Amino acid sequence: MIKPHEIPYTQANFNELQQLANEHIGLALTDHKYSMVYNRLVKRVRDELGLASFAEYIHLLKTKPEQEMAAFINSITTNVTFFFRENHHFIFLKQVELPRILRDKSGKNKIRIWSAGCSTGEEPYSIAIAAQEVLTENSTLEIIATDIDSQVLSLANKAIYPKAQVEKIDIKRLKFAFLQGTGKNADLVKVKPFIKKHVRFMRHNLLESRNHPEKFDIIFCRNVLIYFDQEKKRAIVENFADSLTSDGILILGHSESLYGVNDRFKHIDTTIYRKVK
Ligand SMILES: C[S@@+](CC[C@H](N)C(=O)[O-])C[C@H]1O[C@@H](n2cnc3c(N)ncnc32)[C@H](O)[C@@H]1O
Repeated sequence: MIKPHEIPYTQANFNELQQLANEHIGLALTDHKYSMVYNRLVKRVRDELGLASFAEYIHLLKTKPEQEMAAFINSITTNVTFFFRENHHFIFLKQVELPRILRDKSGKNKIRIWSAGCSTGEEPYSIAIAAQEVLTENSTLEIIATDIDSQVLSLANKAIYPKAQVEKIDIKRLKFAFLQGTGKNADLVKVKPFIKKHVRFMRHNLLESRNHPEKFDIIFCRNVLIYFDQEKKRAIVENFADSLTSDGILILGHSESLYGVNDRFKHIDTTIYRKVK
């Protein structure tokens, strides 16, 4: 257990780190994250880099961002996620939206979904599993899963998870979508290749607007916007609107809303919005 402030860390240091996080990834680290920032970074600063204070670390970030910024970002992002989190979204996907897309756009057989802020992959794999349960052989599913944090993306790409993380998934779905490890891997599961092949992971900063050659039918951006200030939320959501098909949907996390953020969407279900303009 690391004792607080084994190396010098001041309010001024925290303020500078807040500013760096905001400049580089738009992350609004609120004042009560003072201790969290220390705890997340102290090992990196002291043990891995051999620095004597946070002031030295900030100097490194400012003078050699190409060397340290990625590790800083990986340390301060909050990556909590789990399979079928906010399950009502996956029910909506299966029962309402995918059947609607298949019905309304007869002739169209490619469905594109963006999982923005995908963390360690549980969200895009949950989308792929739910979709595979309803899609027919005639339809193609493409899920682009993006995150700023390179470490979570590398875990996501492996598609291997501790068994404890899938224990709430019902047995039928578990057998459908996961391979059970054996021998020394008995505590692990792996997403089956026929599910994994639909998901493509990429590093992407949501503050950099993307020009997608092909529009998305659905964007999941759940439990990510909470970390941004209002101005950055507006820019990100505007880019989502531009990236969606004319009647595509945007799905947010349980404590997020588009109220006062963007008027190109109408609210259609719990934290689900349809593009209208
Ligand atoms: C709490 S997780 C949400 C994971 C998943 N969407 C869910 O709801 O379970 C938030 C994710 O957003 C990512 N993130 C934070 N700032 C970002 C940015 N500027 N661009 C892209 N991803 C970002 C973090 O790295 C983290 O993995």
